[in-house]
Amino acid sequence: MTDGRALAKQYLEQQWVLGGDQVILPTSEPTPGLRPGLVNPPTEAVSLTPGASPGTTDTLPPSGLSFDPPSGDLFAADPVQQTRTLAEIATLVAECTKCKLCENRSHTVPGEGPGDARLVVVGEGPGRTEDETGRPFVGKAGELLTKILEAIDFPREQVFICNVVKCRPPENRLPQYDEIAACVPYLYRQIELLKPAVILAMGGTAAQTLLNTKQSLGALRNQLHRFRGIPVVVTYHPAALLRNPNWKRPTWDDVRIARRILDN
Ligand code: URA
Ligand code: SF4
Repeated sequence: MTDGRALAKQYLEQQWVLGGDQVILPTSEPTPGLRPGLVNPPTEAVSLTPGASPGTTDTLPPSGLSFDPPSGDLFAADPVQQTRTLAEIATLVAECTKCKLCENRSHTVPGEGPGDARLVVVGEGPGRTEDETGRPFVGKAGELLTKILEAIDFPREQVFICNVVKCRPPENRLPQYDEIAACVPYLYRQIELLKPAVILAMGGTAAQTLLNTKQSLGALRNQLHRFRGIPVVVTYHPAALLRNPNWKRPTWDDVRIARRILDN
């Protein structure tokens, strides 16, 4: 195949894998055996170190997607971009009516945690307890998240915890595309101000939003992705773990990867 045809094929494959939204070209030499420029297809996204038990994993997963949405400079007049603190973002969120999720909320849930947090956890959206209290991850899934963070020696108080959408979707349904699109500038700005060392994306909505892809959670796990250069570790959502305890072990592996990045 000519170089041109190979490139075209690669482009089309990327379009397919990425849902047609984006093309990401390789920044380094392709790994032998992998199609250049493509993240590992789902069948190759196997366990990081087969047979490893907690305490023995020592390599980081191969790099995956890298998403660099334009920074605020391009949209300097936007009030979200003019915020200088997390509290200012929360104030804008409290008044926000940019999507229909504002109609049924009791409280907005902007997220919480210290401004110098090195780890940012991103979930999907507030549930009932979160809507009632205005705080992220305080229901059953939140209790599990607190335990998961304790397991990697991260007291919850040291972590910034937030969601893709800041208002509760009715009956806890998935946030819809237009709702995510309306709300995501708040998340981007939070990350821009926080400048964390690692982002832990919990569940498909968080992972797909931060990486601008439609790939499944299974395909995205076990690779080290980046959002504006910040490492993104993808793992299961705590609510999914409550339904399927078999995923606790792989989640443990994932959060330990986040821990190792933070220790470096
Ligand atoms: N699930 C989420 O994704 N976020 C929360 O804040 C609570 C439950
Ligand atoms: Fe605004 Fe986000 Fe709430 Fe929609 S979900 S109303 S965009 S804060």
